Amino acid sequence: MSLLTSPPVKRALRPVLTALDRRIKRLARLENTELRRQLEETRRQLDSVAVKSYAVELLLGRAGRGSHRTPTRTQVGKLAGEVREVTGVDTAERHVHLAYRTLVVLEALGSGRVAGGTMNVVGKLSAVPLLKPPNDDVLEIGTLHGLFAAGLVRQLVSAGYAPRLTIVDPLAEVQLQPGHVLGADPSGTPISEKVVRANLGLSGLPEERIRLRRGFSNDPGVRAAVSDREYGVVVIDGDHSEEGVREDLEWAETLVASGGVVVLDDYTDRNWPGVEAAVEKHLEGDTRFTFIGRTSTSGFLRAR
Ligand SMILES: C[S@@+](CC[C@H](N)C(=O)[O-])C[C@H]1O[C@@H](n2cnc3c(N)ncnc32)[C@H](O)[C@@H]1O
Repeated sequence: MSLLTSPPVKRALRPVLTALDRRIKRLARLENTELRRQLEETRRQLDSVAVKSYAVELLLGRAGRGSHRTPTRTQVGKLAGEVREVTGVDTAERHVHLAYRTLVVLEALGSGRVAGGTMNVVGKLSAVPLLKPPNDDVLEIGTLHGLFAAGLVRQLVSAGYAPRLTIVDPLAEVQLQPGHVLGADPSGTPISEKVVRANLGLSGLPEERIRLRRGFSNDPGVRAAVSDREYGVVVIDGDHSEEGVREDLEWAETLVASGGVVVLDDYTDRNWPGVEAAVEKHLEGDTRFTFIGRTSTSGFLRAR
């Protein structure tokens, strides 16, 4: 029999053991209460995060535009690197952040949507002013709801330009793309002159600096009406077929000012292979354009 189990020792230890036992139970109760309190606090915090992230989803989610506006830090960092590479501007990242806000604000206030993924749109919005177009004249071929054009104007104003904007678009109720049947727009907003003009109003550009020409970019009448000036920026974002982009590039050769910038939307986008095919063929021929780089799925040319 060990000393500890001997009856006299057990008797002597009993009060101590009982006190110890009570203390352990009290501690366990206290720990349980503390644990429960911490669990409830964590749960409250999670509930509040869920409520906030739902509100963020309402503001920046896919619904109503097909693409979300919630890029990751990695995506933004990569895009900033691409913008820096194309433009040679060291502070590209700051411009990417500002362009992102321009996009978010315009879609929040405007009617309809800007077409395309977030990095594609933000890349164009940030790079164009940094490429220092030689004058204030901008031509956009294909505008949808006019919100990208409004964003580009704001970006150019922020860079010290006083833009004059010309837009060519058939303003058909739904977006037209040869070879594709595109249904109702995800935003539910029809394409119309009223919508485009209201959206351009958000850019702050006075009406007299906006020219909206309804029609197709290969229509001789349309071309004649807007070929009265040399453009510092031409955005090719209309007919995405190889033939359509080829025609727009040929026209752009005659329109872009020396040192001017051509933006090729959806360049290298797998959904629109005609854009890259047309650009590559065009650059193999006799051209004033030099390919200067790409951000996300936008290509940039500079005119001699
Ligand atoms: C991809 S959306 C333009 C998106 C707009 N630039 C943006 O970033 O939100 C293409 C637009 O070009 C129009 N379009 C199609 N073919 C065209 C053409 N040949 N000339 C001008 N616009 C055209 C479509 O109807 C549509 O409104």
